[in-house]
Amino acid sequence: MSSRRKFIRGSLLSSFAIAMSGLKSCTNANAEEAVTKGKTTPSTKSIPTVISTWNNRVANEKAWSIIENGGRAIDAVEQGVKLVEADPEDQSVGYGGRPDRDGNVTLDACIMDEAGNAGAVCFLQNIKHPISVARKVMEDTPHVILAGEGALKFALSEGFKEEDLLTELSRNEWEEWRKTSDYKPKINIENHDTIGMLAIDQAGNISGACTTSGLAYKMQGRVGDSPIIGAGLYIDNEVGGATATGMGEAVLKSVGSFLVVELMRQGKSPDEACKEAVMRIIKKQDYKDLQVGYLAVNKAGETGSYSIHPGFTYVVNKASKTQTKDALSYL
Ligand code: GLY
Repeated sequence: MSSRRKFIRGSLLSSFAIAMSGLKSCTNANAEEAVTKGKTTPSTKSIPTVISTWNNRVANEKAWSIIENGGRAIDAVEQGVKLVEADPEDQSVGYGGRPDRDGNVTLDACIMDEAGNAGAVCFLQNIKHPISVARKVMEDTPHVILAGEGALKFALSEGFKEEDLLTELSRNEWEEWRKTSDYKPKINIENHDTIGMLAIDQAGNISGACTTSGLAYKMQGRVGDSPIIGAGLYIDNEVGGATATGMGEAVLKSVGSFLVVELMRQGKSPDEACKEAVMRIIKKQDYKDLQVGYLAVNKAGETGSYSIHPGFTYVVNKASKTQTKDALSYL
């Protein structure tokens, strides 16, 4: 059973909290947030906050621990998503990710900080932590995106090591897939999900990270939304941040994360902004076999989400709690 299936099943049962003490929050820090399938209560206004796609509680807790100790949001999101990149059981991100049609694991990632700095890599192969290469692109080059061979050369020059990222499990599944080459996406499960993480630190600064192995069995060279600033991730420290998961092509065509942030700038709540961004997709294309989910956080620390299909889960850390929630959905 894929780890994502386990996550989804687990999320239906999860409503527990893990105590993390010693952190001061601004307002309403102890308010309960119900975990209700398909329905969430309004998010509390409180910072710090960490929120990430799917049920990656360990990643969220890693990020939270950095923020709890006074660290920066940019460090929190990088270190948090690295845990998922390194997990061979997560077949949608990093090491162990499902390959393209030709058996190549190709990775996309981007990162953005509170000052509007951004870095990204796409079509990167054989490097376990694309998010850290993206951060190096942001900090050590005059560019925003490096792709393919150039991204790999840059990573090696920065001391990253090449390694084979195709695990036996993903190789076996790919061999099986090749018998039929059926390219129909399986919603919420095999074909497209991503970890996107947003964090607000104790100073009130917002950063985000997004990393994926992309659509399983994609055409060689395909790049999704995840490394594209404005599509898979966007941060504006005056307003908030947003990130996306699901079918990257739909997110790219609507510049989804930028749209969510701009809608929040216009006064929409994070939930409302995510919903409006999903509705833009629904109005323009057949969404029956297509999942997209958005997460957002505003400057006050209110969080929100919306997806096309049910089954999109996410994790929120606020004050002393880690909570898994089900996103609101159109269907
Ligand atoms: N959202 C990830 C991808 O489509 O590649």
